[in-house]
Amino acid sequence: MTEAVQGAGRIVFQAHELRDRVLALGREISDAYGPEDRLLVLGVLKGSFVFMADLVRAIDVPLQVDFLIASSYGDEQVSSGDPKLLYDPGSSLQGRAVLLVEDIVDSGSTLRTLLSTLRERRPASLEVCVLLHKSAAGVEPPPRWVGFDAPNEFLVGYGLDHAEDFRQLPYIASL
Ligand code: IMP
Ligand code: MG
Repeated sequence: MTEAVQGAGRIVFQAHELRDRVLALGREISDAYGPEDRLLVLGVLKGSFVFMADLVRAIDVPLQVDFLIASSYGDEQVSSGDPKLLYDPGSSLQGRAVLLVEDIVDSGSTLRTLLSTLRERRPASLEVCVLLHKSAAGVEPPPRWVGFDAPNEFLVGYGLDHAEDFRQLPYIASL
C-alpha cells in the first residue's frame, strides 16, 4: 500500500474502526426491516461501492441491491452544488423499502436532489445510510443512519476518491 498512500496524508479512520462501525450499522438496519419490506439497498456510485459491499454483508434481512450514479464534484474539491443523475437504477422503487447508501454528506445538496427525485417514484419508505457526515448544517430530515461525524477536510479511501485516486485504501485519510 506504500505507493498508493503517497499524497493521501493523515489517517482519520482506521480499517478496524470502519469494520466495527459497519457491523453495528448492519445490526441496526437489520432490526429496522423485515422480509415483508422487500428492502432495496441503493448505492450512490462510485463513492459508496466499498461501504455498500461491507454493509450489505452485515445486514441479515432479505434484500436486493441496485446503484445509481450522481455527479457533483468532477475533479474539484468543492461541490458544484448541481448534482446530475448519470445512471438511473433499473429496479422499480414503488411500494418498496428503499435504503439509499452514500459515502459522505458535505453540503447535503447531492442527497437533497437524490431524495426528491427518488420520492417521486413512490417507495413505501425512503431512508438514508451515510458513512460520513461532514457538516452540522446538513440535510432535512437528517440521515437515519450515520457512520461517523467527519472533520471538515477532504477525505479519501474506502471508496472515496480525489480525481479517481485513492479509492482502494482500506482506511480513510485526509488529503
Ligand atoms: P454534497 O453534495 O456537498 O453533500 O457532496 C456530497 C458528494 O461529494 C459525495 O457524494 C461525495 O462523492 C463528494 N464528497 C464530499 N466530500 C468529499 C470528501 O471529503 N472526499 C471525497 N468526496 C467527497
Ligand atoms: Mg458520492
